[in-house]
Amino acid sequence: MYLQRRNRILRKSAPVRSLVSETTLTPNDFIVPLFIDEGENVKTEIASMPGYYRNSLDVTVKEVKELWSMGLKCVLLFVKAKDELKDNTGKEAWNADGLMQRSIKAIKDTCPEMVVMTDVALDPYSSYGHDGIVKDGEIVNDETVDALVKMSVSHAVAGADFVAPSDMMDGRIGAIREGLEESGFTKVGIMAYSAKYASCFYGPFRDALDSAPGFGDKKTYQMNYANRLEAIKETLQDVEEGADIVMVKPALAYLDIIREVKNAVNVPVSAYNISGEYAMIKAAAKMGWIDENKAIIETLTSMKRAGADLIATYFAKDAVMLLG
Ligand code: PBG
Repeated sequence: MYLQRRNRILRKSAPVRSLVSETTLTPNDFIVPLFIDEGENVKTEIASMPGYYRNSLDVTVKEVKELWSMGLKCVLLFVKAKDELKDNTGKEAWNADGLMQRSIKAIKDTCPEMVVMTDVALDPYSSYGHDGIVKDGEIVNDETVDALVKMSVSHAVAGADFVAPSDMMDGRIGAIREGLEESGFTKVGIMAYSAKYASCFYGPFRDALDSAPGFGDKKTYQMNYANRLEAIKETLQDVEEGADIVMVKPALAYLDIIREVKNAVNVPVSAYNISGEYAMIKAAAKMGWIDENKAIIETLTSMKRAGADLIATYFAKDAVMLLG
């Protein structure tokens, strides 16, 4: 044959392949989600997330130091509230001495440079396991937004660098921005879960925090996974309202959405490689059906290739070790 172009030339050896590789993962890409529990010296493995733990604050602080020493620079905090603190106002969410607020302080005290992001939604504090306040069987928007503003400001007071609203109420980004401005927190950012879909893949996370909805589902606030344009609408609106970073969640079944969002906005885009995506890889690897390490790097690379500037992932430590 006489061929003008032989594409295999650029694949002929590992050095050549690395020279022309379009996508590179580094520790700077990762956000590490942490599940925090009350107590001391508590380290509970999450049944549906083998190898991932819910730790008490003392254990968490040690973990954060280790993450920092590995080059990981950002954590995203979730807390498991005690059952007796849950109600339908979510008021524990803005308790100045709550587990979240104590955790933010303790982490910033021991590792001041670590970028601390916090989940903002009422579900861990809700007796109904919903992200907002419930009235007559409905999740009410505007009252929930008031609660989310109080929650966000309390995280800022405790020292959070970014608040990350994951609730999908309308108008919350603008309201939180205003709340932060009014309280003088001009350096606290907002990472908005802008395109958050109602997904079955959150199951293991809800086990981790015991936060599954007590009735119904989250489809009146989280998005329908059949929709694409809605993701762009939500994201542009959040940017307009003041989001510093926008997020697409889940990631793996939504790579097309990550790309579209990336093309539509001029702020960093984050993807959340969620609990069910973690569980799938762990389960298949345990069965001996896929190579776990290769699957981790391939999926994380696909998210970056799709347009994610940042990836929240339970595989962050594994990835850093694998990347060497
Ligand atoms: C709660 C929240 C959820 C996740 C992050 N924040 C669960 C949900 O919306 O029910 C899921 C994360 C994961 O599955 O890894 N607002």
